[in-house]
Amino acid sequence: MKTKAAVLHGVNEEWQIEEVELGDPVAGEVQVRLVSSGLCHSDHHSRTGDEDAPLPAIGGHEGAGVVTKVGPGVTKFAVGDHVVTAFVPACGVCEPCSRGLQNLCDEGRHLFEGVAIADQTHRVTLNGVGVTQMCLLGTFSPYITVHEASLVKIEKDIPLRLAALLGCGVPTGWGSAVDIGGTKAGDTVVVIGVGGVGINAVQGARAAGARHVVAIDPVPFKREMAEKLGATHSFESVESALPVLAQITWGALANLVVLTQGEMKGEYIQPAMTLTGKAGQVVVAGLGNKAAEEVTLNLYELTLLQKRLQGAIFGGSSPRTQVPKLLHEFRSGRLNLDDLVTRTYRLEDINQAYDDMLEGRNIRGMIVYDETDY
Ligand SMILES: NC(=O)c1ccc[n+]([C@@H]2O[C@H](COP(=O)([O-])OP(=O)(O)OC[C@H]3O[C@@H](n4cnc5c(N)ncnc54)[C@H](O)[C@@H]3O)[C@@H](O)[C@H]2O)c1
Ligand SMILES: [Zn+2]
Ligand SMILES: [Zn+2]
Repeated sequence: MKTKAAVLHGVNEEWQIEEVELGDPVAGEVQVRLVSSGLCHSDHHSRTGDEDAPLPAIGGHEGAGVVTKVGPGVTKFAVGDHVVTAFVPACGVCEPCSRGLQNLCDEGRHLFEGVAIADQTHRVTLNGVGVTQMCLLGTFSPYITVHEASLVKIEKDIPLRLAALLGCGVPTGWGSAVDIGGTKAGDTVVVIGVGGVGINAVQGARAAGARHVVAIDPVPFKREMAEKLGATHSFESVESALPVLAQITWGALANLVVLTQGEMKGEYIQPAMTLTGKAGQVVVAGLGNKAAEEVTLNLYELTLLQKRLQGAIFGGSSPRTQVPKLLHEFRSGRLNLDDLVTRTYRLEDINQAYDDMLEGRNIRGMIVYDETDY
């Protein structure tokens, strides 16, 4: 079928709206008509060349919609089901999946290959040329054909438009604070970078019972939103946060610091470690350039104060357990999804939407599809 999509043809170019050819599901695949797609910073990393997925590529990995077709052998999804996309596939049977680490599913090796898990061919073409689907998804298109491992079925009481946020930003942020970050009642948690990911680290830390939730972001609007959604304190910089953090914790500093800046840099590590107390942990969720290796880190303090530096994909959590769990948090009012979407856009306005993200105008921007898009 023909559908439209926001396609990236080259590094540092703008997204182009193109008419693409979308294949029907082959064995193990499902076609979904999307209701919305969140605009995550990770898609922007492909634009700046930080990631190495082959181009041309359809961006987008944070979507939700309704199943319209299922391929041969698909038994867990049926036409009409409501689904959220998971930006990491979760096959359920590989060794990491079996250990409860679906976020590290072996099918993830295909994430940046540009071809479908099912048969290693392209499901989307443009003028006969294969097109990569970002994170095996490509939600900057009203229709996607993807592997069933990349979808999580959800109940129909959840508004699909908001459910899209469960595809990346919410579980990544929440899990970074709660799951891999291990926030406990009474803890002090610092979140650096309040975007679509960081705001959910704030919400998660609050829900887990943190005594202090300190948000750091240079943009005043971000700090206001952090306080609205659970931060007890907010600051424009690490330097301004440190003396107050020391004061409110009687010198103990943070149990956990979560890094969710838009562009991760090695120079951010030591300042985050400085905010961290004895046996504390820094969780790095933000992404930078794939080739960057330089980090500032005081190894003496790392050892003697027994601190931990921990990376995290999908918040260290498994899509098939985390998405349903977070939907219960939404139902019980502990997870705010409505306020995460600052602005909605038409697919055609995607470049404006990313400009808004980079200018700090949005917690999350979101593309909403309507009847004219299908
Ligand atoms: N690890 C994962 O699984 C995963 C998943 C999704 C996104 N990400 C990555 O997480 C990061 C955040 O994504 P997002 O969509 O929330 O981005 P975003 O652009 O919406 O938010 C980033 C925020 O960081 C703030 N910021 C930038 N530099 C800062 C600094 N030096 N100090 C404090 N704040 C600063 C910005 O003002 C902005 O509010 C990106 O690098 C993204 O690629 C990782
Ligand atoms: Zn994302
Ligand atoms: Zn697996």
